Amino acid sequence: MMTIATKPGAAIERLSEDDIARLVDDFYAKIRADAELGQIFMHAVPGDWGPHLATMRNFWSSVMFTSGRYKGNPVAVHGQVVGIEMKLFDRWLALFDESCRELFVPDIADVFYSKAVRIAESLKLALFYRPDPPWPRSAS
Ligand code: HEM
Repeated sequence: MMTIATKPGAAIERLSEDDIARLVDDFYAKIRADAELGQIFMHAVPGDWGPHLATMRNFWSSVMFTSGRYKGNPVAVHGQVVGIEMKLFDRWLALFDESCRELFVPDIADVFYSKAVRIAESLKLALFYRPDPPWPRSAS
């Protein structure tokens, strides 16, 4: 029987909502255990993680299947996250990549990771890019 791994073209079609749920659970378990990211997330989500995990399932379902299940504003939400820094995005992405590779064949892991990289880039731009010197300058 052909497996996902030997049939690259079919790989993404066989991805399910259950796979996404598993990825989200595994990834945020890693995040919580991480020395730097863990603190930030525990501060932002101090109580029940159920709603955050549900949001993240919807988010990745929307990204991978264009399911429209996620409705939100990641830029606004991350703008309120205490302690978020540009350099932490590399760590976030490394943990995400690790989770994808533990669960999925390389083709699927690659698709997740490249989408995450692209979204991380646009988040970083929206959150941290400031023209220097400030624009517009004052009239004087
Ligand atoms: C250093 C990097 C990052 C940090 C520290 C971070 C932290 C957080 C935290 C603390 C929350 C929960 C906020 C709350 O509920 O109050 C959150 C939500 C979220 N994060 Fe991140 N994040 C990072 C990168 C990313 C990246 C790269 C993505 C996408 C690929 C992402 C996608 C999301 C989404 C979709 C939500 C839910 C927003 C909503 O409530 O609508 N995050 N993040």
